[in-house]
Amino acid sequence: MDKYIINGGKKLYGAVTISGSKNAALPIITASIIEPGEYTLYNMPELSDTRTMANLIKIIGGQASIESNTMHIDTSHCDTPIAPYDLVKTMRASFYVLGPFMSRFNKAIVSLPGGCAWGPRPVDYHLTALEEMGAKVSLESGNINVKGNLIGANIKFKQSSVGATGNILMAAVKANGQTIINEYAKEPEIEDLINFLKKMGASIDLIGKDDVRIVGKDLYSGGFDYSIIPDRIEAATFLIAVAICGGEVTLNKVIPDHLSIVIDKLIAAGVDININSDSIDIKSDGVIKPVDIITEPYPGFPTDIQAQWMAMMSFSKGNSKVVENIYKDRFSHISELTRFGSKIVLDNNVARSYGGLELRPAPVMSTDIRASASLILAALGIKGESTVSRIYHLDRGYEKFEEKMSLLGADIRRIKA
Ligand code: UD1
Repeated sequence: MDKYIINGGKKLYGAVTISGSKNAALPIITASIIEPGEYTLYNMPELSDTRTMANLIKIIGGQASIESNTMHIDTSHCDTPIAPYDLVKTMRASFYVLGPFMSRFNKAIVSLPGGCAWGPRPVDYHLTALEEMGAKVSLESGNINVKGNLIGANIKFKQSSVGATGNILMAAVKANGQTIINEYAKEPEIEDLINFLKKMGASIDLIGKDDVRIVGKDLYSGGFDYSIIPDRIEAATFLIAVAICGGEVTLNKVIPDHLSIVIDKLIAAGVDININSDSIDIKSDGVIKPVDIITEPYPGFPTDIQAQWMAMMSFSKGNSKVVENIYKDRFSHISELTRFGSKIVLDNNVARSYGGLELRPAPVMSTDIRASASLILAALGIKGESTVSRIYHLDRGYEKFEEKMSLLGADIRRIKA
């Protein structure tokens, strides 16, 4: 397993180009299954997760390749609506095939995803909604079997869900009649999926500010070109890196609106930020004020940036609080941050950081994508040599990470297993 050796304490200067969004790309790749055709997806991040999704397209009879951040997909000959365990266990987002399989084949066999480092991650909202749309759902040998012709329904999830909104949108575009998803997830990645589905001819419109209506109809796309939105989580990770290390950096190819709350919080933490139409300039002297955050559905503070924020708060002189409201057990980074000398006390879903402590380099181990980012940011900010192992987690979600960081002046080296 690859690891990073990081000689921290270097300021960051220059410009970095943000890659396409992983969490937008994954459902969009699966959406191409809905209508047979040849699709070209630009701004595709080259990551292990997007390669895994390309493999899934091949396993079900299609073709997919990625080169120079462009993915070519041909779903004309997809004929096997099965997502096997070997694939789903490496990437939960493969569950996104469920909606497209139902739209195209009226049946699906998808391995039931297990828990993950953030604790249990159920898929009951997806399955209950499909039942409400008339599907028969059963569990056989660890696989979820779903079948039936879908009919439109009024769907309300117990809480906002990105994955369930995406799956039901994709299931509903060809269902018989109208589906309304109440309090749908408004994350930019879902908005990108909606735009892709509309380009496919789907009838989707927003009702008021909380509901989305999908009127099922035949689609005749044959495939088209589409460009994936920039990755707001990668962008936020770079912003926090500069805040911690100090320096002056421009992030290019971003949608600043998607980062509003993170930018507001960074400004409150004492960082200078200048927003342009598709770039952000950040300047920091590395002195961080304590700022509390509460993770919430978009446009609230993203849970995917909670771990990186907590790393930054270890560098502040005061005390701060993180309330995790989306994944209440998503704190595996705390025990590793403690190895650097951070003091973070967890009480249920509330983590309190005590600032003003001396942080020292240490060997640490990552447990998931964003926890890896958090540990790496901490190591980059601490003078001396730290090792971050198990960076295969990071590779799932960050494209050319050490290359981009090195260009900004960080001393970060990958040691191949
Ligand atoms: C997606 C993102 C993930 C992000 C999360 C929240 C992708 C590939 N992953 O995950 O990076 O952290 O959104 O922004 O885009 N829930 C249920 N039952 C369900 C579905 C969800 O109880 O059937 C709960 C979850 O346990 C969680 C909450 O709903 O507490 C939100 O989860 P959800 O938005 O569905 O997360 P994912 O789509 O899995």
